[in-house]
Amino acid sequence: MKNYKRYTVTSALPYANGPIHIGHLAGVYVPADIYCRYLRLRGRDVIFIGGSDEHGVPITIKARTEGVSPQQIVDRYHEMIKKSFENFGISFDIYSRTTHKIHYDTASEFFKKLHDKGDFIEKITEQYYDEEVKQFLADRYITGICPYCGNENAYGDQCEKCGTSLSATDLINPKSTLSGSKPVRKETKHWFLPLDNYEHWLRQWILEEHKEWKTNVYGQCKSWLDQGLQPRAVSRDLDWGVPVPLHDAEGKVLYVWFDAPIGYISATKELFENPKSQIPPCLPAGRNPKSDNWELYWKDKETRLVHFIGKDNIVFHCIIFPTMLKAEGSYILPDNVPANEFLNLEGDKISTSRNWAVWLHEYLAEFPGKQDVLRYALTANAPETKDNDFTWADFQARNNNELVAILGNFVNRAMVLTHKYFNGEVPELREETSYEKLIYEESNKIKKNIEHSLENYRFREALKEAMDLARLGNKYLADTEPWKVFERDPERVKTILNVALQISANLSTLIEPFLPFTAEKLRNILNIDKISWEQAAEVNPLKEGHLLNKPELLFNKIEDEAIKTQIDKLFATKKTNELVGAISNPQKPDVSYEDFSKMDIRVGVILTAEKVAKTKKLLKLTIDTGIDKRTVVSGIAEYYKPEEIIGKRVVILVNLQPREIKGIKSQGMILMAENADGSLCFVSPEKDFRNGSEIK
Ligand code: 2FM
Ligand code: ZN
Repeated sequence: MKNYKRYTVTSALPYANGPIHIGHLAGVYVPADIYCRYLRLRGRDVIFIGGSDEHGVPITIKARTEGVSPQQIVDRYHEMIKKSFENFGISFDIYSRTTHKIHYDTASEFFKKLHDKGDFIEKITEQYYDEEVKQFLADRYITGICPYCGNENAYGDQCEKCGTSLSATDLINPKSTLSGSKPVRKETKHWFLPLDNYEHWLRQWILEEHKEWKTNVYGQCKSWLDQGLQPRAVSRDLDWGVPVPLHDAEGKVLYVWFDAPIGYISATKELFENPKSQIPPCLPAGRNPKSDNWELYWKDKETRLVHFIGKDNIVFHCIIFPTMLKAEGSYILPDNVPANEFLNLEGDKISTSRNWAVWLHEYLAEFPGKQDVLRYALTANAPETKDNDFTWADFQARNNNELVAILGNFVNRAMVLTHKYFNGEVPELREETSYEKLIYEESNKIKKNIEHSLENYRFREALKEAMDLARLGNKYLADTEPWKVFERDPERVKTILNVALQISANLSTLIEPFLPFTAEKLRNILNIDKISWEQAAEVNPLKEGHLLNKPELLFNKIEDEAIKTQIDKLFATKKTNELVGAISNPQKPDVSYEDFSKMDIRVGVILTAEKVAKTKKLLKLTIDTGIDKRTVVSGIAEYYKPEEIIGKRVVILVNLQPREIKGIKSQGMILMAENADGSLCFVSPEKDFRNGSEIK
């Protein structure tokens, strides 16, 4: 493998429109952090780049829904996300944001350079436009009937009921969600990156020169390339984003997927502008970009660029962004893009809108000080090659059976015995037997295995190997039984405990990338400074006579009660979702007050009720509306018996066009509430208001 002088490691910039959950951590940020911490421990020159992705339509939609500005939304979530990362020890060298001026400048320059070189195609296309609010409509701002399943609230990019991807022009009866009006098609100019021109080069670069990429990544790229690439628009008609830096481009911004990856570059520049102020508190002391020139980290062939992302980002990081970099001409390309698959939660897809997630800020409040337990469980079960499931039962088992029983137990035994027999001083190494020699060899082998796994982005495997050292230590103590030997041969016990403590000290380095808080705690109880990767498991780091601190447990058992609380909480969420029906029916498009006021809704009372012959669902009702007495056919027979509802006060839409149902003229509609399971109940005025009272 090629030896690189320095590393630029990026992790996907999360959208600043919601907090961070375990899926984010497992898929992207923990593996990226493990990798960077490992590189730093080895003294490599590395920068670890992160930041919030603050543009894009979902952010503008959230802002509209809440009645605030997009800037207020991103300010809120950027801070929250940044804090979560700090709390979980994600050791970014910088965590920036794409609304910083330096990013606007960098992204504009990048676009301008490609534009001036003639790398874009300018195309005029027809797009939906809302004449009332005088705005072109992003696909998410258009709803209509899905041509495939008839769902009346399908979005312009996707029908959430049948899951089909749509174009806004596929929708039947499209409506603008901004004004409720029917959008018109209008011509608009955009800039397109001609990906098709780069197809040949991409095939060579990825399919021939990067066969070592993970199977899931390579496979997705191959499938995109085999389908043939099309030019991609890199601008949008929107008022939130980096403005297209041209004269004839008013109202146009860069497409969020054009500006976001450039955010990695802007953040790097920002880091080097003011390196000291950027160091977050969680960053280990051994932080070491060795140069002060940002360009080396992006333009020098001796730099290895690695993007950590989730699988939904593969095309952008393996095809589109590299094409942009290639077109620009002065940048290096990613050496690897170790994308992970998705993490599910208790058998279901993690979903923000359904609140089916474990949010980091909530976890921290409920399991204070247990960041490493979550890091451990997520790494041990990382979705590296396929989607995986996080369950609270697995989380508990990982803690109790592995962290407590293997790692914690080993260190604690070595510490407690040393305090008991030798007053907490590292005893002398006397005669070494073949067993001790084997321990040294095995420790060294384990270290090499971890290196090999980490260099190949196999983090689960690497963690298991790090735990193998603790397993080895446990076996050594169980086999040598110092607690039995002491009476008979205290000199032998000196050697055993010396070796057990050396293993503990080596562990403090080998577990550091995965469990940084525990590594720190372990160093504290051993009363030592950081041991470099190079030294660990090579020489014995502890000197004879070195005084240890008091033993302290590294981990505590997690009881069933705490796990039950989490499971109950999750399943309570599921129940609420089912009751509210929040999943199936998103809010309908806005209507004007004028439209609403056209409806004449009144209080009425049911005078008679009878079943409609040959139907299961229909009742024929006579209603006193206060204006008249009229017949209404209503589909409520499955929920109410006719005799139960006579005299019931109801709410009726009286000016609905009369319709004939089963030969009966129905004049109006009784308003009902519908539960998620489809059951119906009446909506009635809270007080006994007289018939004909208007509802406004
Ligand atoms: O999928 C996402 O959350 C995107 N915001 C990731 C962007 S990664 C990069 F390009 F900035
Ligand atoms: Zn559909």
